[in-house]
Amino acid sequence: MNVLLHLANRLFPFPGPADAAPVTLRRVRPDDAEALRCFVRALSPASRRQRFHAALNDLSETMLKALTCVDQREHVAFVLTVAEHGTERIVGEARYAVVGDRETAEFGIAVADPFQGLGLARRLLAALIDAARAGGLHWLVGEVLAGNSRMLAFMRRCGFVATTRGVDPGVVRVERSVDPSLPPARAGSRVPGSSPPGPPRR
Ligand SMILES: CC(C)(COP(=O)(O)OP(=O)(O)OC[C@H]1O[C@@H](n2cnc3c(N)ncnc32)[C@H](O)[C@@H]1OP(=O)(O)O)[C@@H](O)C(=O)NCCC(=O)NCCS
Repeated sequence: MNVLLHLANRLFPFPGPADAAPVTLRRVRPDDAEALRCFVRALSPASRRQRFHAALNDLSETMLKALTCVDQREHVAFVLTVAEHGTERIVGEARYAVVGDRETAEFGIAVADPFQGLGLARRLLAALIDAARAGGLHWLVGEVLAGNSRMLAFMRRCGFVATTRGVDPGVVRVERSVDPSLPPARAGSRVPGSSPPGPPRR
């Protein structure tokens, strides 16, 4: 059975649960606040901790506003939605914020637990990379909990290099260029035992 992924007016089939509705990828909007709150509440405690690096159960109004009222330039955010009972349910989100050097953006990504393993994170990451490239950025970086082996493996397969330099204990920094003329990552110490990254797929 196929789920349909709706991207820029195109529908992409991909393997998924039999009863799943088409999934739409679009930019986040200010009126997504309630849906985003529901998305975060519905994440498993493990997924919430992996996404926010804290035992967070709910988002405050201030956080919700900061996550939904974004300028889509310095703070770029996408959501994945499905139609459910006449409303849109968010089943994934990814965002980046440009940091100090104006060439780098720090990103975060999460997919609703029942929708994990369907290739949606790969779609979200591709959207972030395309947006970063179009925005003239050079690097995407992220902080991943050291125990989040699934995300770290995914990052490696997407061409990210993992380092432990300059981050808190228990956290791994992942980095890759979005500009094909640059090396895959700036010089950094690879996590001991991690395999070198494969070629970037996008
Ligand atoms: C990490 C996360 C974003 C991946 O999302 P996803 O939609 O399940 O990922 P995808 O289906 O696109 O798969 C990504 C990779 O993981 C692999 N994967 C999928 N399901 C897997 C599983 N159960 N176990 C191990 N690897 C798995 C896929 O094979 C894929 O690799 P490939 O693209 O090289 O084939 C998701 O698990 C999640 O939201 N986790 C909680 C939040 C988090 O950890 N965020 C990262 C820090 S910001």
